Amino acid sequence: MKAVIKGLTVGYTDQGKGTPLVFVHAFPLSKAMWQPQVDALKDTYRLITIDLPGHGESDIVLWNDTLDGYAKSIICLLDHLGIAQAVFVGLSMGGYTLFSLYRNYPDRIQGMVLANTRAQADSEEGKAGRRSMAEVAFKEESSAIADLMLPKLLAPSTLDHHSEIVEQVRQMILQTSTATIVVDLVAMAARPDSTDLLPTITCPTLIIVGENDVATPVAESHSMAERIAGSTLVTIPGAGHLSNVEQPAAFNEALQSFLTTHRL
Ligand code: MLT
Repeated sequence: MKAVIKGLTVGYTDQGKGTPLVFVHAFPLSKAMWQPQVDALKDTYRLITIDLPGHGESDIVLWNDTLDGYAKSIICLLDHLGIAQAVFVGLSMGGYTLFSLYRNYPDRIQGMVLANTRAQADSEEGKAGRRSMAEVAFKEESSAIADLMLPKLLAPSTLDHHSEIVEQVRQMILQTSTATIVVDLVAMAARPDSTDLLPTITCPTLIIVGENDVATPVAESHSMAERIAGSTLVTIPGAGHLSNVEQPAAFNEALQSFLTTHRL
């Protein structure tokens, strides 16, 4: 599905009935990463997946240097669909975007799932890593980014034994333009530290992490869980950073149990 909002095309899917769940993807992927959740939950909830600007079927916003722009694009889509409140599920960069959503639009949030993400801003070393990745993207195109990112996104066991997942994730990365990759990197490097936001979060919150996540290690999820009152932390065995793709059954079970417990 596509909508033209403020002159820009936004790619999204909207199916099912019930509480709206809005899924926000990771870097440098697209809404396609949420297919295992859509397949499992579409008969029970209203599921919305969105392509952030420049990803999948959405137009790029070249002059976007903060994740607030991404949060705003989500709110614009919800306004377009007539949805006042939703439960948001964000993985990694999607999680960083949820912090921006919470900061700017707390009234729109019924619940949050912070998957494989972190509250801290980038360190100086992390920012330098973003700059060198932007140079690689510019000089060598998305295939070089796929080679760099796959070992960060997937657990060694997934890389060794699930070639279909590796290929699916590689294709998503190859479909992302180098311009989009650079815009994402600039926006992620500029994101503020959200540690102080954590104790102010009052909506039901689920934190999910893969036990073998190297990009956003388990300890960071524990530290978020300690600061968000009443939050639940689920560690998914055998998963790396893309826990929803690598271990969909465990991810879906954690999500479903959270939604049921909180009557969402
Ligand atoms: C992601 O999966 O969105 C990225 O690994 C996030 C990041 O690079 O910080």
